[in-house]
Amino acid sequence: MEDFRFIKSLKNESETELEATIRPQKMSDYIGQEKIKANLKVYIEAAKLRGEPLDHVLLYGPPGLGKTTMAGIIAQEMGSSMRVTSGPVIERAGDLAAILSNNPDKSVIFIDEIHRLNRATEEILYPAMEDFALDFVNGKGPAARNFRLKVPRFTLIGATTRAGMLTGPLRDRFGIILRLELYTPEELNLIVNRSADILKIDIDKDAGYEIARRSRGTPRIANRLLKRVSDFAVVDGLKKINIDVTKKALALMDIDELGLDFTDERILETIIDKFNGGPVGLETLATASGEESNTIEDVYEPYLIQLGFIARTPRGRVCLEGAYKHLNKPYYKEMQLF
Ligand code: ADE
Repeated sequence: MEDFRFIKSLKNESETELEATIRPQKMSDYIGQEKIKANLKVYIEAAKLRGEPLDHVLLYGPPGLGKTTMAGIIAQEMGSSMRVTSGPVIERAGDLAAILSNNPDKSVIFIDEIHRLNRATEEILYPAMEDFALDFVNGKGPAARNFRLKVPRFTLIGATTRAGMLTGPLRDRFGIILRLELYTPEELNLIVNRSADILKIDIDKDAGYEIARRSRGTPRIANRLLKRVSDFAVVDGLKKINIDVTKKALALMDIDELGLDFTDERILETIIDKFNGGPVGLETLATASGEESNTIEDVYEPYLIQLGFIARTPRGRVCLEGAYKHLNKPYYKEMQLF
């Protein structure tokens, strides 16, 4: 079922290519995340003035917000080359050792899904991040000898959906920890128009804003909806995307006024109908709604929280008044026991 969803924020194959064409290359082309950009500019400038690599950076936040893009821009602003890999791809400690060796000085190493590194591999990273060194043990028993191999200086940029998924020792070794936030509709509107320009898609102002408004704060979703709405416009023989075809396309894709789809609705309805509005523990909610708890936490919940539809309490998730209104369900304040 997951694969048929239009608004899932996880990447699919064909999108990797799409994202590459419209991905901003410079900090000045990157829309939104103003605070992160302002701070990063200072850190980058200082590192360059000192002639040192930038301190290691951890980027975290929901999928589709531009963590990989930001990593590429950091490398570009540092004037460094970037190697890209991901946690699950690095199977053995030796794979990581190979990645860290033989790079130009001050390279950027980007590890996506860094929380999925296995334990042995992660341990290779500790001395590498601290001292730019790999520690090996040669031989066994009393004859065993430790030895150290220096590697070129580098900046590790790790990306993950939640900083809490990293082990403490790994998290502690990042000097710069940045949380990417969901984008505002205004920022997404700028992103949709920028992408439309690059892809040579003509779009009316109100249509662009409609897509932005229904993209759950996520550029990847905005760009995907732009492409799909453009498909509907082309098939309808339109030269320019207008508000009518946009609304029609979004309705046919089962995306509601706020950008929610049936999975969001199922999550909200589960809390309201089966658990009396909550509080309900995440694991219980996952079982009752048929979604994985990680997916609820990383993909659905951030936007539902931003809308003020769900709140996290110490005793679990609760639905708030807005969710009842949106689903046309009666709401009585005294129903809520939290
Ligand atoms: N495309 C995807 N994310 C973007 C961003 N933050 N700025 C500009 N274009 C983007």
